[in-house]
Amino acid sequence: MNLFDVYSLFDVTPVKASGCTIWDDKGQEYLDLYGGHAVISVGHSHPRYVQAIKDQLDRIGFYSNSVRNPLQEELAARLGVISGYEDYSLFLDNSGAESNENALKLASFHTGKDRVIAFRKSFHGRTSGAVAVTDNPNIVSPFNAVHKVTFCDLNDAEGVEKALRGGDVAGVIIEAIQGCGGINIPRPGFLAELRALCDKYGACLIMDEVQCGYGRSGKFFAHQWDGVLADIVTLGKGIANGLPCGGILIAPKFKASKGLLGTTFGGNYLAMAAALAVLDIIEYEKLVDNALEVGEYLKASVPESPLIKEVRGRGLMIGIEFNVPVAPIRSQLLYDKHIFTGVAGKNMIRLLAPLVLTKAQADTFIQAFKEVLK
Ligand SMILES: Cc1ncc(COP(=O)(O)O)c(C=O)c1O
Repeated sequence: MNLFDVYSLFDVTPVKASGCTIWDDKGQEYLDLYGGHAVISVGHSHPRYVQAIKDQLDRIGFYSNSVRNPLQEELAARLGVISGYEDYSLFLDNSGAESNENALKLASFHTGKDRVIAFRKSFHGRTSGAVAVTDNPNIVSPFNAVHKVTFCDLNDAEGVEKALRGGDVAGVIIEAIQGCGGINIPRPGFLAELRALCDKYGACLIMDEVQCGYGRSGKFFAHQWDGVLADIVTLGKGIANGLPCGGILIAPKFKASKGLLGTTFGGNYLAMAAALAVLDIIEYEKLVDNALEVGEYLKASVPESPLIKEVRGRGLMIGIEFNVPVAPIRSQLLYDKHIFTGVAGKNMIRLLAPLVLTKAQADTFIQAFKEVLK
């Protein structure tokens, strides 16, 4: 049997990793500025993280969600405190897409409505509802395209209000910083306007923090830069540093009932041990502050070049937009300079380094980047 051929692969085979460093099967060392799509939050194979998972596996690896799991309760309590959403509830699942799926479903259950407002250039995942609110027709099958979705331009509050006036909108879903769509930060005040509009028309405000959340932007959640509260916050990626895990934070106004949401694997012991270790490390090593400090340092160090149009982002979520396609630059960074980076679209290098990145590692990248741009 072959693998279903849907991924464009680099010719690199990682076999070992630590912090922001990866080694391949030939012993070549790489600097990781992408964290496997923003998943590696506290660094590869952090000793505290590895030990927590090993210890948990020695005790119990899995049981279903039909028994009490104190690790889930501990995670909910700690996540409430660190995120400032203490009076919210936590539902645990397995991925970013599943989190968005659950958020959309909950908004629809709560309001009894079936339309969702999403934004151009959004990415919310590949399951049925999540992909329907994703602005990329290439990955929306006819089966997914049946959902009622209205796409508005980012920052267009009037367009959102016009759609809300229809009276059938269950929720508005937005990335507090768009990731795959090109590191687009909503203009100041826009998220607050969405909050007010959702309140006026009885729709739920869903913040997708799957990529921009968990400390990456230099605040625990990126929407906290705008001082707004969401009705539902969706999580994935960095929450368990690579063990599949997702979740949603749910405002007190949503009423739980038995069977309303569910999952087999969500909240399992290993993911919980991993997620608790991630919070330990984020707190102990002050990684939210580090993301801000090193991210801003890196952004400010990007050299001026006629090839570069704009550098934007917050914390360790950085887009370097070029006037030209970046594929050759990214290849050179990987194969000649041994640095992993990502892209958004054809013209942007996207950096989503582990939150433990140091200024010295940022300098290493900047030096290599200057040489590649020569
Ligand atoms: C903003 C955002 N939401 C949702 C997802 C989907 O997450 P997953 O791939 O874990 O389903 C992603 C993945 O890139 C994302 O960037």
